[in-house]
Amino acid sequence: SFTFYATAEAIARRGATPVFADVDAGTMNLDPEDVAARISSRTKAILAVHLFGRPAPLAELGQLGLPLIEDAAQAFGSPDIARSGVASTFSFYPTKNLFCIGDGGLVSTDDPELAERVRMLRFHGSRDKVDFELIGYNSRLDEIQAAVLRIFLSELDRWVALRREAAARYAELGLDAVCELPEDEPGHVYHLFVCRSPERDRIRAALQEAGIGSAVYYTTPMHLQPALAYLGYQRGALPVTEQLAQENFSVPIWAGIDATTQEQVVSVVQASAPVAS
Ligand SMILES: Cc1ncc(COP(=O)(O)O)c(C=O)c1O
Repeated sequence: SFTFYATAEAIARRGATPVFADVDAGTMNLDPEDVAARISSRTKAILAVHLFGRPAPLAELGQLGLPLIEDAAQAFGSPDIARSGVASTFSFYPTKNLFCIGDGGLVSTDDPELAERVRMLRFHGSRDKVDFELIGYNSRLDEIQAAVLRIFLSELDRWVALRREAAARYAELGLDAVCELPEDEPGHVYHLFVCRSPERDRIRAALQEAGIGSAVYYTTPMHLQPALAYLGYQRGALPVTEQLAQENFSVPIWAGIDATTQEQVVSVVQASAPVAS
């Protein structure tokens, strides 16, 4: 539920019923214990999101004995993802770590039959434009986007390293004195640098005043979205998700952000902190 709408939409579009589990407050990724508690005889698969570029706990989720699908839209370049699941999906939307100049995406799988099905679904359920075997989509990757992706792909490892350096620098600069920072782990590719604070609105107002961009994510979690109201979730159903929805905010991160900009971000956030009484 603490994810972009498309994660849940994909399940509902297929005619299946999304069942939301809560996330871990520290990683903001699925909490395997909560997932386990929500599995029933009707559960067909687990859809795990690598949120903000942090790998979901795939080993623990894999032990739950169900097919695992990875929503890796935010985690291209993370080394150990998209290996254990049945299939993984990626987005090349222009804000992503690997991006094109329009819309694009990728599905990875090591199952040849599934790969063939996805290839057909991509083009209206057909192999040859003559026979249409499935109800599919118009979801081809434009050649122009593919060409751009080939160029950017060669930069990806360097970009990921720069993002990781920038994330470490926020910690070194003492941003953690005023808000909770994402704890580092080796596979985190920092698509976004999302922090937590009960004071986030005050912090964001100070950033805005200083002309520094920040954003909040999933302020209405998916289990409370109007389009999914038919599922019957009430406020309070996923307490960690709902708290994160109120407390998360991101500070600028991109491949190559300079130390001076980061110092300015940290000093504005520090100055916005309430004075200890
Ligand atoms: C977690 C997650 N899943 C799915 C998507 C959907 O990707 P696209 O917009 O390329 O279809 C996004 C994109 O923002 C996302 O962040």
